[in-house]
Amino acid sequence: MTTLRNTLLWSASTALLAVPVASQAMAEPKINMMHQWAQGSEAAAIATLGEMYEAAGGTWAQTAISGHTSNTLAKLRSDVVAGTAPSAVQLKGPEIAEWNAAGATSSVDDVAGAEGWDSVVAPDLIAVMKPTGNWVAVPMNIHRVNWLYSSPKILNELGLEVPKTWAEFNDACDKIVAAGHTCIAHGAADWSDTTTFDSVVYGMDANLYRKAFQEADLDALRSQGMIDAFAQLRKMVGYMDDGINGRSWEQSMTMVMSGEAAFFLMGDWTVASANMAGFKEGVDYLCDQTPVDWGGAGYILNADSVVFFKQSDPDYVEGQKLLAKTIMSPEFQVTFNVAKGSIPARTDVDLSVGGFTGCQQKSLTDLKASIAEGTLVRSMAHNMTVLQRYRGAMMEVITEFVADPSVTPEEAANRLADAVENQM
Ligand code: BGC
Repeated sequence: MTTLRNTLLWSASTALLAVPVASQAMAEPKINMMHQWAQGSEAAAIATLGEMYEAAGGTWAQTAISGHTSNTLAKLRSDVVAGTAPSAVQLKGPEIAEWNAAGATSSVDDVAGAEGWDSVVAPDLIAVMKPTGNWVAVPMNIHRVNWLYSSPKILNELGLEVPKTWAEFNDACDKIVAAGHTCIAHGAADWSDTTTFDSVVYGMDANLYRKAFQEADLDALRSQGMIDAFAQLRKMVGYMDDGINGRSWEQSMTMVMSGEAAFFLMGDWTVASANMAGFKEGVDYLCDQTPVDWGGAGYILNADSVVFFKQSDPDYVEGQKLLAKTIMSPEFQVTFNVAKGSIPARTDVDLSVGGFTGCQQKSLTDLKASIAEGTLVRSMAHNMTVLQRYRGAMMEVITEFVADPSVTPEEAANRLADAVENQM
C-alpha cells in the first residue's frame, strides 16, 4: 500500500513537473513584428532580420505599416485595445516607458542576463530599453538625424565649402540660388519638416533644444530663440523649390545626389537608400553634420528598437526571446546596420570591417565626440524625447508653418507652446 501510494505520489509530482517542461520543449518560437519599414532600403534592411530569425529556428512574420511612425503607433494602440497586442513592435523612447507603465510589455531579462547586455549596449540606450529596470525592449541601431548631404558637383562649380554655421549655410544658398540651382531638396511631410527643424533649433541653440524639445518647456517653446529658429526655417523654405508637396525623402535625396540640388537635411537612413540606388559617397554626395553656431561636434540621436508585448501563446513567448537574442547578436547588428545606414547599438562592434561606409564611421566618431563635449541630444522629430501627443502637436504647427507663408515666426512659436499646453 505504502509503495503504491509512493509510486502514485511520485508519478503525480513527475507529471506535474513534466507539464511545463514538455510544453516548453514543444514551444516553437514564432513572431509577428509590427514596424514602419514598408519599402525600399528600409524593407530590405528588415528582411535581414527575418532571414536571421528563420536561420535561428524561428518562424518569422511581419506587419509593415507604410507612412511614418505615427501610423504604426496608431495601429499598435488599436491592436492593444482590441486585445490582440502584437508580439513585437518597432517602437521608440518615451512610448516604451508608457506601454511599460501600462503593464503591457513583457521582459526578456533572462536572455539579457545570459547574454550580458548591460555591459555591451550603448549606455544612452540602456535606460530607454529598461524603463523600470527590466529589459522590455532591445535596440537595433543608432541613427544620426543631423546630417547634411551636399552635392560636390554644385559646391565645386561655385567654389563653395560645406557650410558649418547657419550664416554660412544661408550665404551658400544665396549663391546657389543666384546660380540657378535649387539649394535645399525637400519633401514636405510633418516628420520631414520637423526633421529639418530639429537641426535648425539644435544648431542655433542646443540648450533651447533640450528645454523645448526634450522637456516640452512652454517658455522655451514660446521664446525669442524659438522665434529666431522659425525665422531661419522660413528662410530655408525660400531656398526650396516649388515641388516639395508629395515628394518622398528618397526623391529629395536623388535631387542632391544627381546634382540637381545642393543640400538635403535628413537622417542617415539616406545612406542606405543612396547605397541601394548606386550613389557613391565622396563622388555623388558628401555627408557632414548640419550647421551648428556653437562649434564642435553635434549629434541628434535616434534609435530604432523592438518592444515586446505580453503574450499567452508559449510559441510567441519563446519567439520573443529568440527575436531579442537575434537582434542583439553582433552578426545582426552588423548586417542590419550596414543595410540601414545606421551604426550598431552595441559598443563592441568594429565598424572598420563588414562594409560600413565612411558616413557611418563618421557617425560613430562624432557620436563619441558629442558625448565627450556634452552636446548629445535625442531627436524630437523621431520620437526619442516627448510622448507622441506632444510630438504630434509640435509637428502639426511646424508643418503648417512650412506650408503657409503667411504664418509669422512669432505666431508659430506661440502656436507651438499653445499646442503643447493643450495636451497637458
Ligand atoms: C526611423 C528610421 C526610418 C526613418 C525614415 C525614422 O524615424 O527611426 O528607421 O528609416 O524614420 O522612415
